Amino acid sequence: MTDRFIRVALAGIGSCASSFVQATVLSRDSGPRMAGVMHEHIGGYRLGDVEFVAAFDVDGNKVGQDLADAIAVAPTAALNHVPVPLTGVRVRSGPLLDGLDGNLSEMVHPHPDCASLTAADVTAALRQSRAQVLVCFLPTGSTAAVQAYARASAEAGVAFVNATPEPVANRAELVELFVSRGVPLLGDDLRSHLGATTLHTALLELLQSRGMHVANTYQLNVGGNMDFYNLADPTRSRSKQISKRRALTSAGIDSDDVAAGPNGYVKYLGDRKVCFLRIEAEGILGTPVSMEIRLEVEDSPNAASVVANAVRIARTAADQGLVGVVDPVCPFLFKSPPAGLPESEALRRFQHFVEKSARPATAYTGAARS
Ligand SMILES: NC(=O)c1ccc[n+]([C@@H]2O[C@H](COP(=O)([O-])OP(=O)(O)OC[C@H]3O[C@@H](n4cnc5c(N)ncnc54)[C@H](O)[C@@H]3O)[C@@H](O)[C@H]2O)c1
Repeated sequence: MTDRFIRVALAGIGSCASSFVQATVLSRDSGPRMAGVMHEHIGGYRLGDVEFVAAFDVDGNKVGQDLADAIAVAPTAALNHVPVPLTGVRVRSGPLLDGLDGNLSEMVHPHPDCASLTAADVTAALRQSRAQVLVCFLPTGSTAAVQAYARASAEAGVAFVNATPEPVANRAELVELFVSRGVPLLGDDLRSHLGATTLHTALLELLQSRGMHVANTYQLNVGGNMDFYNLADPTRSRSKQISKRRALTSAGIDSDDVAAGPNGYVKYLGDRKVCFLRIEAEGILGTPVSMEIRLEVEDSPNAASVVANAVRIARTAADQGLVGVVDPVCPFLFKSPPAGLPESEALRRFQHFVEKSARPATAYTGAARS
């Protein structure tokens, strides 16, 4: 194993994990300009340098399968765009905790081992696999389970990417744990690469840059994957609503009056997500301006583009000895970073970080060092 690989573990082998695994496979055969990937190199790493070394889930139909097979198991909704060769990584059971509370409990039957596993078992598995980065793709609302994986990751000396809206980078006690263990942390809640939040905040910034007053705006989202099914349960969608509002607040909008969130599960859409966006603003002489946009995307690949950045940043941050929240990149990659920024400033700081880190990778062995 040479040092230029990034040894990645995944927790939650659902739609986002499927698209990310497929993207890494495709990138190995792609030229330098793979669509949807912003940078061929980050910190000296290509996306094709990602190697999967561990995978965790609780679904009895996924545990024990090779990662390549598990990513295609129903109810995962991500489409298969690329044949994925066997990885040699078997999906392990993880601690269940609140992972399948709500609607998901009707669809997914947990593996019997999951009830007795703890964060310490995840730490041991991460050490054994010599993982360097753990990406957490657990369902929204599973606060206890997400935080258990975060603790396990910090204890194993493994950089953590929190794709979910559950607070990790926003939980002081966990941030301190990552700092004290000398481990980088990225989060919370992926900002889809070209999704509703990104489009919405970019348009609001455009209007504000012209001195327009935004009076009313909404962003309504429907989709048919498991994430939307889970979010149809109000007890599970709270953290997502808060996260979307935080992103709008960072764009300079009083989010109290804005409707923004997951607004419905429409089964036949599968992994397609449709966003209806309206903005009403006022220009000079009180003249009204309004716009309505319908954005349709494939939801999970949209997350894979962001994770393609995030895992390479996480590895680069570790190479550079950065610990705790990697502040310069989180406002661009996540909806709920500890300190948000307007879209253009977030992009500028992200690009600056990537440009600064354009140098060959140095030795960092992640979990192996502990
Ligand atoms: N699709 C996007 O663009 C996007 C954007 C931002 C954030 N996210 C977030 O990413 C996360 C994953 O989304 P998804 O569409 O892949 O969801 P999904 O429902 O398809 O997959 C979740 C997986 O986690 C597993 N799981 C549940 N509890 C577990 C536990 N305790 N341990 C290990 N595995 C467990 C489930 O069995 C399932 O396989 C969600 O929190 C979502 O909000 C996605």
